[in-house]
Amino acid sequence: MNPSTKFWDKIAERYSKQPIADEAAYQKKLEVTQDYFNPDMEVLEIGCGTGSTAIIHAPYVKHIQAIDFSSKMLEIAKSKAEAQNIKNITFEQSTIDNITVEDETYDAILGLSILHLLNNWEEVIIKVYKLLKPGGIFVTSTNCLGDTMKWFKIVGPIGKFFGLMPFVKVFTTKELENSLINAGFNIDYQWQPSKDKAIFIVAKKA
Ligand SMILES: C[S@@+](CC[C@H](N)C(=O)[O-])C[C@H]1O[C@@H](n2cnc3c(N)ncnc32)[C@H](O)[C@@H]1O
Repeated sequence: MNPSTKFWDKIAERYSKQPIADEAAYQKKLEVTQDYFNPDMEVLEIGCGTGSTAIIHAPYVKHIQAIDFSSKMLEIAKSKAEAQNIKNITFEQSTIDNITVEDETYDAILGLSILHLLNNWEEVIIKVYKLLKPGGIFVTSTNCLGDTMKWFKIVGPIGKFFGLMPFVKVFTTKELENSLINAGFNIDYQWQPSKDKAIFIVAKKA
């Protein structure tokens, strides 16, 4: 078993019960995202966790392919969608690297609280760009720890070694913006609720 999967499987139940840290910011991000949606859209969510955001967005689009590599997260996500009678989400256990659909498949890709958990986050941005149709959007909320917590580069691996933390990659907002732009995206919307919070970006494929 991949050690990172083990971490997320272990915390899935607790994660699903945690209240949203900043409800107002979460609602704003949902609204901004939904302004881009239309009922014909094919959406991919990478690292969907327990499915809460996909379930909220599902009524506004045609279909959401929601992937996560943690089977425990997905079990919870599936049962929540079933309980709410949501039929247009397909949950699939997959890493992001293993997605094997054709290029230009999706109208929108959501990557919420996930890029900073990926060692190859820059490659993932390039892959996301390829998977989007022209004019498609990548919606991401990302903790750029390099802005305010550079020391995390030292503490993070220790926490991971003891199984207390998942793998976390430290990079800055500037590095994130540059990676998106270098991949070919235009940044269409950008917002950060406050300095120490995740940066929310809607990037459009040119
Ligand atoms: C912090 S949670 C975010 C969940 C959800 N997007 C949200 O905003 O609540 C990160 C999720 O990404 C998943 N994950 C981490 N690395 C992954 C990878 N390489 N491939 C697929 N899923 C991954 C974890 O299992 C976990 O469910």
